[in-house]
Amino acid sequence: MASKLWEKNVTVDHDVETYTVGRDREMDMYLAPYDILGSIAHITMLESIGLLSKDELSALTAELREIYRLTETGDFTIEEGIEDVHSQVELMLTRRLGDMGKKIHSGRSRNDQVLVDLKLFIRSRIEDLTAAVNRIFNTLIAQSDRYRDVIMPGYTHLQVAMPSSFGLWFGAYAEALADDLTVLHAAYKIANRNPLGSAAGYGSSFPLDREMTTRLLGFDSMNYNVVYAQMGRGKTERIVSQAIAGIAATISKLAFDACMFNSQNFGFIKLADEFTTGSSIMPHKKNPDVFELTRAKCNKLQSLPYEITLITNNLPSGYFRDLQLIKENFLPAFDSIISILDMVDTMLSQVKVNTHILDDRRYALMFSVEEVNRLAHEGIPFRDAYKQVGLAIERGEFTPMTTVTHTHEGSIGNLCNDRIKAMFDEILSRFGFETYHTAFDKLLDR
Ligand code: ARG
Repeated sequence: MASKLWEKNVTVDHDVETYTVGRDREMDMYLAPYDILGSIAHITMLESIGLLSKDELSALTAELREIYRLTETGDFTIEEGIEDVHSQVELMLTRRLGDMGKKIHSGRSRNDQVLVDLKLFIRSRIEDLTAAVNRIFNTLIAQSDRYRDVIMPGYTHLQVAMPSSFGLWFGAYAEALADDLTVLHAAYKIANRNPLGSAAGYGSSFPLDREMTTRLLGFDSMNYNVVYAQMGRGKTERIVSQAIAGIAATISKLAFDACMFNSQNFGFIKLADEFTTGSSIMPHKKNPDVFELTRAKCNKLQSLPYEITLITNNLPSGYFRDLQLIKENFLPAFDSIISILDMVDTMLSQVKVNTHILDDRRYALMFSVEEVNRLAHEGIPFRDAYKQVGLAIERGEFTPMTTVTHTHEGSIGNLCNDRIKAMFDEILSRFGFETYHTAFDKLLDR
């Protein structure tokens, strides 16, 4: 029996087959459950337009649900010699149900099949990702509240500049994640459209009911134009990876801060000993390897949109096999960013904060502006007060008052964490993951 869906009377060269299949068997394992859900929706629609009988639909649906269960228990595999997940599922159906299994592909191509698989995969992994972002967001807000009164220096040009606080530092990254979540939500909206029915990229002469598969799979709407639906391959992954890259950029900056603040020359934070690693030669070392690897992993994730851009950049419209390669770094990117977020969450919830930074006289000058403002308050024009304080510093006669009195929104004395949290929760509520859960439960009869 031919091992490929498309094999007729010529057997493909073994090396060519190895080369073209590449890592697809491994990558398609990420897509297996979604491929099956897509097929259940597709055959339900085929029955409604008379291309399958009621009996065929119920037999095929029962088998597909069986195969779905195998993906849950870890017993689904793509066999040696089988090209991809689409071929594997069809093969399993024909083994169990004979010719009936061969009917499911009417009005469909692997091109719209892999498109729909990717979109269902993306929706579900974005849900996992929002949960991870939510966890670290809440830790950041909690730490910001907890250390709201602990002053630390703020830097510009990496020169001691003005008073900042741990309340501000933790809270800044929380608010950054709120913006990153907005981008992720936009990516979710773009992914949440149904490409099924576009077939090879030009539709089908069968009267497919695309509204029906859109509803059955819990999509917001369809990608209407079949040519555009196919153009969504690569574009969707690029946009989603841009959203992942945005989160990675935030965490990478945080990781750099953490490495720097943990160094003896700053000493602002201290990682628990069990969270540091040692040196094979220097017995005193307690290195922040976790944050260094976090930084590198985040930087690597930020290369993903560029990689996808390069793979898709010079392609005209229509399907090309080039697109297959996007799966290799894109599909595992979700596991990567989620594990980063969870690790950094653990680090941040246990980090020790130095509450005596100001005892070190080298930070006295960051209060210079406070003194200028105090004089300006007394009626001295700002520019004159600036000069007066500047000259006192030059003469070594500046003794700062180290109390800070900021009250405006977003400042040391008024972090607005409750408002940041309300904003974050509102963005989170826009995703509406329940819609697809309800749809999947129906497809699986759960
Ligand atoms: N493995 C292929 C991919 O990921 C599936 C689609 C194959 N389509 C084709 N026309 N060869 O793109």
